[in-house]
Amino acid sequence: MKPSAPAKPAENETTENLLELEAKYCSWGDTVHYAKELTMFSRSEGTYLYDDKGTQYLDLQMWYSAVNFGYGNPRLNAALKQQMDTLPQLACQYLHKEKILLATKLARKVESVFGEKGRIHFNVGGASAIEDAWKVARIKTKKNLAFAFMGGYHGRTLGASAITSSYRYREKFGHFGDRANFIPYPYCFRCPYNMKRESCDMYCLKQFERLFETEYYGVVNKTGNAEFGAFFIEAVQGTGGYVVPPAQYFPGLKKILDQHGILLVDDEIQMGFYRTGKFFALENFGVKPDVIVFGKALTNGMNPISAIWAREDLISPAVFPPGTTHSTFSSNTLGTAVALETVNLMEEEDFETRVMQRGAYFLGRLKELAKKYPQMGDVDGLGLALRIEMCQRDGYTPNRELTDVIMNIGLSGTLTAGGGKMGLILDVGGYYKNVFTIAPSLYITEKEIDTAIELFEEALKRGIAETE
Ligand SMILES: Cc1ncc(COP(=O)(O)O)c(C=O)c1O
Repeated sequence: MKPSAPAKPAENETTENLLELEAKYCSWGDTVHYAKELTMFSRSEGTYLYDDKGTQYLDLQMWYSAVNFGYGNPRLNAALKQQMDTLPQLACQYLHKEKILLATKLARKVESVFGEKGRIHFNVGGASAIEDAWKVARIKTKKNLAFAFMGGYHGRTLGASAITSSYRYREKFGHFGDRANFIPYPYCFRCPYNMKRESCDMYCLKQFERLFETEYYGVVNKTGNAEFGAFFIEAVQGTGGYVVPPAQYFPGLKKILDQHGILLVDDEIQMGFYRTGKFFALENFGVKPDVIVFGKALTNGMNPISAIWAREDLISPAVFPPGTTHSTFSSNTLGTAVALETVNLMEEEDFETRVMQRGAYFLGRLKELAKKYPQMGDVDGLGLALRIEMCQRDGYTPNRELTDVIMNIGLSGTLTAGGGKMGLILDVGGYYKNVFTIAPSLYITEKEIDTAIELFEEALKRGIAETE
């Protein structure tokens, strides 16, 4: 794809000047300064970003899976523009058509895949929707405490970081609520119990079940009444490193939770909307959630909308009446319009087939590469949620240094593909920050996957040469 020439910056808007201003006036408290050198982007299209010099970067993370349907998707952009010209703003206490149609389509979709009636409640960001889900669970169970997974990520508001495993996210702020009880996730490449998937007989699940055996394990009382109201899960762990669990894990977990009246809150913020080949990632495991939380790709990364779906008995007006919760920008008209079109797009195109086919091709190419490079210790995935776990030459010891070097080489825009200079956008996650969490556009072509492999191999070779 040919990039158009970048607009000439005004005298005081050169990259150097802007970076100086950024250093002085932007807070450094977000994640921008994780990168060794800062790159400024000025344009995006399809699966590519372009920096202000016009260099093209193949994006393998798509804004942490918020842009599943490609940058500048013409159909989704048109829906946004159309809404801009009709009803661009409206206080969320009044109704508009797109909100109602969006909620209807989403609730009917959940009903068709999970066979359960429910309602949709909108918010703006993922973390706020997580808190809405927790409110719903607390109303029903009258219990403040929740389980969540080690390696789980649910956002950075005070409530959401209480159920996100890393202490780093809470350390500076103290506790404002109830910190989750963190349970080991079935991360089989680095099994927390040192078992092997082939022979473990779901040991981790049995360990969880044992917690309910006696009141002395601190989870239930004498009669089996649990102190915990909800378990927040990601069906495939996102920030934790795109970890895919064994097929039996979630069905077993749900059975245990049901026995003790604990609600399963399914966080689909990163894995929802066909990232794993299904509308919701949990569908892959045949388990019915009690509450679902989603955001990100619902608007393809444009005007943000997040939401929860909850079972009718958890969210009916009788238990969740007017004013239970509110946010000024929830169900904003630009967001609902583009989200409605995104849902229409997902109904009309066969993403399941496309994602499974492209995902299998991409995974196959990565596995071929891993045969040559023992540093690619684990390569796995579900649909187009793929992981490359970077290790030392032993194929197991986490190699964060190599991961960082490769990520920065990609960002430097100095790789070559098809005879031209190019960049590669990679995101890093994982328990040891040594996993490339690969989330390309769901429209990525096989040719683009081949280019991605070529770019990754070059970055890998350079990274190995620099670090070994
Ligand atoms: C699984 C998951 N839950 C929650 C969140 C928080 O969403 P937000 O950043 O929109 O608050 C994220 C963000 O990456 C996520 O991946």
